[in-house]
Amino acid sequence: MFTLKSLKYKDILDIKNMSMEKGQITSIIGESGSGKTTLLKHLNKMISPSSGEIYYKSTPLSQIDSVKLRREVVMLAQTPIAYRGSIRDNLLIGLKFSQKEPVPDTTLEYMLEHTGVKKKLDDSIEDLSGGELQRVSLARVIIMKPEVLLLDEPSSALDSESEKKIIELVIDYSKENNKTLIMITHSEDMAREVSDKVIVLEKNKTYKEA
Ligand SMILES: Nc1ncnc2c1ncn2[C@@H]1O[C@H](COP(=O)(O)OP(=O)(O)OP(=O)(O)O)[C@@H](O)[C@H]1O
Ligand SMILES: [Mg+2]
Repeated sequence: MFTLKSLKYKDILDIKNMSMEKGQITSIIGESGSGKTTLLKHLNKMISPSSGEIYYKSTPLSQIDSVKLRREVVMLAQTPIAYRGSIRDNLLIGLKFSQKEPVPDTTLEYMLEHTGVKKKLDDSIEDLSGGELQRVSLARVIIMKPEVLLLDEPSSALDSESEKKIIELVIDYSKENNKTLIMITHSEDMAREVSDKVIVLEKNKTYKEA
């Protein structure tokens, strides 16, 4: 799905060759500051490399329109964002931004239930805990049914039991729909257990895939 060739970004990333395959689960791990978030941001063109190229389905990202790309490649940021309004508004806003049709309340309620958020759609977003907001944000990106889901530590604010449930949910989504999942996680054990491929980034080191 993605192939990276001789990618450099400032003195943060130096990647000789790397790939993430379609329909697979790829996890990215590594110490804080090793460039995990920076790498993920490259994949939906929030950042462009200083040199080198990234290919998405064999086309250089530099030749793909950012807006078009982000309808297919959706990123969930490390710090969840709340938009003023209700939980419903927040669940639907991703679809709105990417000019897709809204989905019915029954779908939204299903997502709340399966992410373990015990709230009503009309409840204000401001009353949620950090972990609940993180789960609503994850629900928002799954609802968009993207081709590629980029998740930056989707379970960092959650206890290990909730984390397990959330990760199962995204994995089920990807497998059932043959979507590509690329996620950053701090949990190496979990990464090794659920992923087809684990990428380990190290500070100030060239990454080269075997
Ligand atoms: N836009 C930027 N310009 C310059 N340096 C940056 C920029 N964004 C991040 N950095 C630096 O790049 C390095 C990698 O940051 P990044 O956020 O990718 O790390 P990370 O592996 O995601 O860390 P964490 O696990 O703490 O989230 C850090 O040293 C950070 O300070
Ligand atoms: Mg990060």
